[in-house]
Amino acid sequence: MKLSVIGCGYLGAVHAAAMASLGHDVVGIDVDQAKIDALAAGRSPIYEPGLPELLTRTHASGALRFSTDVTDAAEAVVHFIAVGTPQSADGNSADLRFVDAAVDSLLPILKPGDLVVGKSTVPVGTAARLQERIAPTGAELAWNPEFLREGFAVKDTIEPDRLVYGVVSERAREILDSVYARAIGAGTPLVVTDYATAELVKTAANAFLATKISFINAMAEIAEVTGADVTQLADAIGHDNRIGRRFLNAGIGFGGGCLPKDIRAFAARAEELGRGESVAFLAEIDAINLRRRARVVDLVAESFGGDVSGRRVAVLGLAFKPESDDVRDSPALDIARALSAAGATVAGYDPEAVESSRRVAPELDYVSSAEEALAGAEAVVVATEWRQFRELDATDTAARVARPVIVDARNVLDPSAWRAAGWEFHGLGRP
Ligand code: UDX
Repeated sequence: MKLSVIGCGYLGAVHAAAMASLGHDVVGIDVDQAKIDALAAGRSPIYEPGLPELLTRTHASGALRFSTDVTDAAEAVVHFIAVGTPQSADGNSADLRFVDAAVDSLLPILKPGDLVVGKSTVPVGTAARLQERIAPTGAELAWNPEFLREGFAVKDTIEPDRLVYGVVSERAREILDSVYARAIGAGTPLVVTDYATAELVKTAANAFLATKISFINAMAEIAEVTGADVTQLADAIGHDNRIGRRFLNAGIGFGGGCLPKDIRAFAARAEELGRGESVAFLAEIDAINLRRRARVVDLVAESFGGDVSGRRVAVLGLAFKPESDDVRDSPALDIARALSAAGATVAGYDPEAVESSRRVAPELDYVSSAEEALAGAEAVVVATEWRQFRELDATDTAARVARPVIVDARNVLDPSAWRAAGWEFHGLGRP
């Protein structure tokens, strides 16, 4: 099938390449010339395992093209909307400017029978509004939320763990079935529903995941005043199948381009709908999440008797999670900035996210290896659980620093091994 993907950021670039690899003829459209140039040359603008290979392969076969001119999408019969919905500059709601602009740009080229498929995360009610806008062209709208995780984006798109179609006609469902025919395994669950439910599935899934993380981080706060160990607590409650162990890793919580802004936008939308109280707990989820960052800054400061000024602190990890160069709302980068603002000399290192960090936090000092960050450090913070940090050797690391104090802000190191090697060791929610 001939497909277009409007918006070639994280979601769109991966979606376009994945659809081309499934055998479709795909054109990716974006207003950002630099991004299109990079993609057209087979270069991935983001760090995402597997994406460069996929881009190169689909590009070489001619299945994937990129353009800044939306008229190049005129021959497509299915148009995916994959633009961002950032937090508004003046509040918590989602800024729908890019979604509206994408739909407006499509209007002149839409033909009767075309299907416009929304993939962006939007406030419930958006799809119904957009359907009215495109109806005069004879095209139709479907809402098909995306659940990809950064670091696993290619796999999550080619082998989704479920598909959700918000549709108003059987025909739209059939078109989506053909689009995904090669992605749907025998057992892939499919939920065919209305627009509002499809929009809410995405919002609710992210709210649930954020809640699970903040729940265990709240338990970490209680563990800290009782001497309990939140990692053992998580293992024990996680053995209950109804709870499950995944997403119960206590630490500095969630960041990234999705969970933080999506729970805020959900709360704002619920307010607009007169149901703010139904999700009022999300403000608490957000607050718990942010408190954990402050806790790490406090632990470092306490280790210096309260004052970090002039102290050299190594921050290992800047991305919001491993296997990513994304520092949007990153707890790790936030902690590095807070320490620097309090007067510490921060040496920040991340295997992939130094460049992206430098763009948003030019005031920090960045180094190009963990060894460089550790040299002369008076405190170490493990802020993103990249494998190379999880595998740090306590004795070897002790020999590199000026003062063996470590805050394991992701609870990935073995406290007894580090203490045995002479470290003052702090975890989160651990004795
Ligand atoms: C998330 C959703 O998982 C995905 O389905 C949705 O489409 C987009 O948002 P992503 O932002 O890529 O994906 O990251 P995810 O792996 O969900 O992690 C989110 C954050 O939570 C990270 O900062 C991670 O470090 C943190 N986290 C995750 C924890 O603190 N503890 C956990 O147990 C799990």
